[in-house]
Amino acid sequence: MVILVTGGCGFIGSNFVRYVLEARKKAKVVNLDLLTYAGNLANLEDVQDVFAGRYHFVRGDVADKGLLKQVFEQFGIDWVVHFAAESHVDRSILGPEAFIKTNIYGTFHLLETCRQFWSKSPRGENAEKRFLHISTDEVYGSLGRTGFFTEGSPYLPSSPYSASKAGSDHLVHAYFHTYGLPAMITHSSNNYGPYQFPEKLIPLMINNAKNGLPLPVYGDGKNVRDWLYVGDHCKALLAVLEKGTPGEKYNIGGNCEKENLELVNLICDYLDEKLGFNQDRSRKKLIRFVADRPGHDRRYALDTAKINRSLGWKPEVVFEKGIRQTVDWYLAHSGWVENILDGSYMEYYQEQYGARLNGR
Ligand code: NAD
Ligand code: TYD
Repeated sequence: MVILVTGGCGFIGSNFVRYVLEARKKAKVVNLDLLTYAGNLANLEDVQDVFAGRYHFVRGDVADKGLLKQVFEQFGIDWVVHFAAESHVDRSILGPEAFIKTNIYGTFHLLETCRQFWSKSPRGENAEKRFLHISTDEVYGSLGRTGFFTEGSPYLPSSPYSASKAGSDHLVHAYFHTYGLPAMITHSSNNYGPYQFPEKLIPLMINNAKNGLPLPVYGDGKNVRDWLYVGDHCKALLAVLEKGTPGEKYNIGGNCEKENLELVNLICDYLDEKLGFNQDRSRKKLIRFVADRPGHDRRYALDTAKINRSLGWKPEVVFEKGIRQTVDWYLAHSGWVENILDGSYMEYYQEQYGARLNGR
């Protein structure tokens, strides 16, 4: 079994590569990653040694069809697990073009390559092929105070990020319908855990709170996200690959809704408990309400009955434990964080937060 993982040097991709190599001793992984600002070889430093012979890294763009052809010819790919994407909503608002290129064009070229290679296989061999497209709950848009998104909810994306993910989902769906490509789509809620790039809410708040920096909460802080531990997500993805039905979609959620402000308070409390107060004050004093994100979705929540019923998956990690483990991980890996916070990150940070934190 040869698995092509795209975007394996990112947050969820790197957790998945490590998980699948441990869980399936016969699996080989080819990781194709462009190493954008979000991709980091350090996320898989140990994997290269521990799983020598079963892990190959290829640096390149999912939108490079010549390279995709080479990879398929060289490795003979059975499954594709497609994580590679531009993934941050705020960056999509500052500059949407990269999102269209990678998320839509990249997915298109990957689908085309699978179609060409897999239709060449002798009759019957395709039964084992799988294309798993990693999508998000954000394609469904925003919920009011009540209700949940099901797999049948209409698409109503609000940001350039979610619109580009929605576009790629539609292509995947069309390749199943038109060409019979054995594709499945998963929609997960917000992940948290080790190796998440510190532009996202949880690692950003941990890093700033640890260092006594302002904690920028958008709007009134009452937007709600559903939180899923990344290890639980990886288990769900393997279940979908092994037991899911081509043409189907599966919601993967944590059944754990939190308002942003509540979450930031929790992180402050835990850091205060572990490290003591920051300059004699609770880290909650660092919270700053700043200008809201344009088009900010109010609430996401997923109905996960389908994956639970059909594949027997449910989240295992309780949030209060998962968030503590995550804070502990970031504290123990301060070098990993510092290596990431380079000049280009600081430029982004200034553009995103400079005016907001100065009250403009
Ligand atoms: P990430 O930003 O941490 O990682 C993305 C990875 O893709 C990086 O390693 C980057 O180098 C690589 N990449 C980007 N453009 C590429 C290209 N053109 N060619 C090859 N590689 C490229 O993202 P993540 O948080 O790990 O998310 C992974 C996937 O899961 C994305 O598709 C995202 O939309 C989806 N998702 C994420 C979350 C979440 O909470 N993080 C929730 C739901 C869905
Ligand atoms: P984020 O981690 O960017 O994930 P997503 O937008 O994909 O859900 O943001 C999670 C929530 O936190 C979202 O409601 C926006 C909010 N947020 C802040 O309030 N401040 C911040 O600095 C960031 C990055 C996010």
